[in-house]
Amino acid sequence: MKGMFITVEGPDGAGKTNLIKRLVKAIEAEDTRPLVVTREPGGSQIAEEIREILLTPRHMNMDPRTEALLLAAGRRQHVVEKIRPALERGDNVLSDRFVDSSIVYQGQARGIGIDVVKEINSFAVEGLKPDLTIYLDVDAEVGLNRIKHKDSNRSQDRLELEKVAFHDEVRKGYHTLIEEEPERFVVIDASQSEEDVFQETWRRVKDRLIK
Ligand code: TYD
Repeated sequence: MKGMFITVEGPDGAGKTNLIKRLVKAIEAEDTRPLVVTREPGGSQIAEEIREILLTPRHMNMDPRTEALLLAAGRRQHVVEKIRPALERGDNVLSDRFVDSSIVYQGQARGIGIDVVKEINSFAVEGLKPDLTIYLDVDAEVGLNRIKHKDSNRSQDRLELEKVAFHDEVRKGYHTLIEEEPERFVVIDASQSEEDVFQETWRRVKDRLIK
């Protein structure tokens, strides 16, 4: 594989969406390889349909293992249809969330276990790992407040409706992953201004783009 696989992770309300918009322009200006920008849950037609099922607040009764399996199923299709072919062509790929999200949201916060979530995802992605993961670190309460205040027209999805304690566990899960693989993560303090978050991220990511 010649392309570089970059993921962006963080708790809800960390500011991934805004960062990604700016990062895309910066990467495209720096690196001549095409950049495929994608997201999870979703990223391919089947996976986007699964996303609807996962995020609608109509399904508040979804079982945690069902949730983990649907996420892994969507991810499988996303990897097979989009991510792997892009990397094999030599394109770079930037994904808003990937396996780490399942490990922390389902494994840690839902409490079904980190190891079991790692296992179903290893079945789904067959060893595919990001080369680099940007982690936007923000306090759970700060993140959730941002979501509530930023766009009052946008309704909250099923996972955002979880309480602060759930999102505290999400953050704890990320910190465990970073301890396990410090070299893969670029950790950014996302309580800074949008501008500072971008500047710091770009300063630290620029040199790590695989030439
Ligand atoms: P996302 O679209 O990234 O929402 P936001 O931009 O608001 O953070 O993700 C939607 C929700 O899905 C988010 O609460 C995180 C959750 N999620 C999981 O629980 N497990 C996963 O594997 C993924 C990819 C997302």
